[in-house]
Amino acid sequence: MNRIHFISGFALTIFISLHLFNHFISVFGAEAHIELMNILRIVYRNVIVETILLTAVSVQIISGSKLFLSKRKLVKDYFEKLQIWTGLYLGFFIIVHVGAVLIGRHILNLDTNYYFGVMGLNTFPFNLFFIPYYGFAIFSFFGHIAAIHFQKMNKRFLGLEVKQQSNFILITGIVVTVIIMYGLTGGFIGVKIPVEYDIILGK
Ligand code: HEM
Repeated sequence: MNRIHFISGFALTIFISLHLFNHFISVFGAEAHIELMNILRIVYRNVIVETILLTAVSVQIISGSKLFLSKRKLVKDYFEKLQIWTGLYLGFFIIVHVGAVLIGRHILNLDTNYYFGVMGLNTFPFNLFFIPYYGFAIFSFFGHIAAIHFQKMNKRFLGLEVKQQSNFILITGIVVTVIIMYGLTGGFIGVKIPVEYDIILGK
């Protein structure tokens, strides 16, 4: 089970890294984000790649849930606990998130681009849910990797002990989360969303 989870997790990590880099680019504006997404879509919206990606998501959720249930009572140290709790949150997030994207695309017939992604973040009171919802997802991705790094790495790197390396990954996660939130909220002042996206909030 560990091995299956690791392999599908590795495939997902490649997509998520590119996906978060795409969100990172929003600090240069909505157009820059949309332009990069259009390029990345050529790869991940390809029928074969998207099938592999959505299969990896399903495998990750099923194997992750089993691992969570079997390890929950055995974990003791800080990074072990971080691994199972960030994993649980990522599982919850990815089910809701991918479900929302697929509904947006296939049922509401929307272009699920930058404006679809940032709608909830830029609309009060929905942002009270969406800021922590997205923020914890980005942080959990880095937290999960920091925990796996602590488990697998066994030597000093650039003069840092393994624990310091994992803490460095965690701090990077916090910084990246804040930068992405800055980009997705138009520099914290709010993004004006085109009217065709009002349907998401039932307007
Ligand atoms: C601020 C955080 C995030 C925002 C605003 C966001 C937004 C989006 C948007 C707009 C799409 C649709 C892409 C398209 O139409 O091409 C999407 C797809 C997706 N996102 Fe995210 N995302 C975020 C974080 C994450 C994270 C942390 C994960 C993984 C844990 C993730 C996993 C996915 C997956 C698997 C897809 C489906 C790709 C597909 O099959 O087309 N996202 N996201």
